[in-house]
Parts: sequence; C-alpha cells; structure tokens
Amino acid sequence: MEYRASRYDFHDKPADYARLRDELAALLAGERDLVANAANTAALLFAALPEVNWAGFYFLRDGELVVGPFQGKPACVRIAVGRGVCGSAAAARRTLVVPDVHQFPGHIACDADSRSEIVVPLMRSGKLFGVLDIDSPRAARFDGADASGLEALAEVFTQSLAE
Ligand code: SME
Repeated sequence: MEYRASRYDFHDKPADYARLRDELAALLAGERDLVANAANTAALLFAALPEVNWAGFYFLRDGELVVGPFQGKPACVRIAVGRGVCGSAAAARRTLVVPDVHQFPGHIACDADSRSEIVVPLMRSGKLFGVLDIDSPRAARFDGADASGLEALAEVFTQSLAE
C-alpha cells in the first residue's frame, strides 16, 4: 500500500478534493471491511484537511447513531437521530454545514475547541447507514466546496463496502 499523508493547502478546493478522492480510492482498494475502511478514511481526512480537530463516523445501530472510527478527542458515543448536528443531518438525509456550532440549537459539544462542523449522511441502497462528521476549531471553516468534496469522498467510502 502506498500512503503519503499529504497535507493539501486547499486553496483550490475542487482540485485538492479531487486528488484526495483518488488517494482515498487507492487507500481503500481491495478491502470491504467497514471498520478497516472507516478507520483509514478518518485517518486520511484528519491528516489531509487543514484546521480540523475531529474527523470520523457515526453508524446507525438499532435506530440511533453510535460512534465509529475517528481521529480527535474522545467523543459522545450515542446520538439520537434528530439530535445535534449529526442527528439532524441523519434525519434530513442531507449534508449540514454549520458555520458556528454555538448558534446551532441542540449542538452536542464533544470537544470545546470545535467552532464549525460539517456532517454528510451516508446512504446505501437508498437507506441511511451513518454519517461522516468533521469539526474545525475555526468558525465558518466549511463551505459548499467542502460539502461537494466531502460528499464525493463519502461516496468512495460507501462504494468500497460494496465492492
Ligand atoms: N457535535 C456533534 C456531536 C459529535 S462530535 O462533534 C464528534 C453534534 O452536534 O452532533
């Protein structure tokens, strides 16, 4: 396996997300295990994305979100669908970009350093099976280009499980 923990500057977000997407596809190629691929995806994102203090997964287990592989400080284990940023993105089944978590009603503070957050729902055969969650210590760290880029990365992760 060839893996370089490249740190992109993300001045050209679409181009850097496209490179990161290729890097993730190479990293996950030939492996279908959920925990293995989630762990490597979280590690790659945490190493590559600037200004990020948490990157990882929550998976749907018996109707609630349970923390999966991640990088960052220890996190809350269970989140009800509909609660917090993760649960809201899961309930709405769409990506949520929160520029200031202090302004988000019901935000669940796992790391006091987090100021902004993006959550991408993970869908397989039309069904929600988890979310990808990224936190930043900088307010308004994530925009529409991050949403598109991370949705493409989430798709690579989801596809890897089905190969
Ligand atoms: N802030 C999230 C909880 C998960 S942590 O950020 C890792 C939320 O409000 O859902």
